[in-house]
Amino acid sequence: MQQEIQKIKKLFLRDCKAQKPLKELEIQYLGRKGFIHDLTKTLASLPADKRVLAGKAINELKSFVLQKIEKAKKEPHELLKSPARVDVSLPGKRVVKGHLHPLTLIQDQMVEIFSSLNFSVLEGPEVETEFYNFDALNIPAHHPARDLWQTFWLKPATSNQQPATNGEALLLRTHTSPMQVRFMEKHQPPLRIIVPGRVFRYEASDATHDIQFYQLEGLMVDSQVSIANFKAVIETFFKRLFGKEFGGMRLRPSFFPFTEPSFEVDFYWTRKERWLEVMGAGMVHPNVFRAAGFAPGEAQGFAFGLGIDRVAMLKYGIPDIRLFYSGDLRFIRQF
Ligand code: DAH
Repeated sequence: MQQEIQKIKKLFLRDCKAQKPLKELEIQYLGRKGFIHDLTKTLASLPADKRVLAGKAINELKSFVLQKIEKAKKEPHELLKSPARVDVSLPGKRVVKGHLHPLTLIQDQMVEIFSSLNFSVLEGPEVETEFYNFDALNIPAHHPARDLWQTFWLKPATSNQQPATNGEALLLRTHTSPMQVRFMEKHQPPLRIIVPGRVFRYEASDATHDIQFYQLEGLMVDSQVSIANFKAVIETFFKRLFGKEFGGMRLRPSFFPFTEPSFEVDFYWTRKERWLEVMGAGMVHPNVFRAAGFAPGEAQGFAFGLGIDRVAMLKYGIPDIRLFYSGDLRFIRQF
């Protein structure tokens, strides 16, 4: 009988360790057709002197099982407690590690290069006012230059929302250039900043255009900053970013309302042996300085804007800009 009792106790402990459902344990051990009940039934066949001892042992087993189950109901880990054993030879759980998106990778590289040239990095609001996105950049309402940027206009705030801008129209910024004026309003030259960030265009998308993409704006202002300074800074930037694949750069005359003169910047890409257009730039227009509150002639400087997506596409050989925003892991995992 004692052997039987020990056997059932062992079995019970093993079931505990296997974390059998409590309900099942209850039925199996304490139920009307359970192990312990079966043991009790065999008592009758024992001689009287052994019966008392055996009865006591069965009762002890019963209260042991009962206690353990009751405790486990309150504290689910109780079942595992005894006998405690950790198998240190089991392999650990594999941790799934994430990694950086290709756009973040390339943006980080750009930020690092400009930081080393003493440019500060800042970000601006993606929801921008009409004033900073256009007027302050010498693009007045009804001026045809506004057509260069297809714009997502936001619906005017309803009465129960805070009118953040005194009723001024809001939009999704079409470029990072608004941060030029926002920054100059609050800071005095000398200034060196870059502004990476997301911009939006209300356009049909194709392999090289999307309704959202990333730009990197640059601004350097002092009492005497020239195109020669611009060329030196940008050449250093491209050399560091593209290494041996950089084969020289050239400026072509262009037009932007916020710069005079304005130019497109091309660089010679040795990998494909051809010129690539990579950024718009120019000398900051006097009207932009005026909008920022500078006196005429007080400052001069250059500004530029480049498409981060486009540079990433070139560098990594990505054929379609929309892949960046697809969330497709087969694409993302290649970087
Ligand atoms: N904001 C322009 C665009 O989105 C790019 C640009 C051109 C920025 C010339 C500049 C600049 O700062 O000087 O097309």
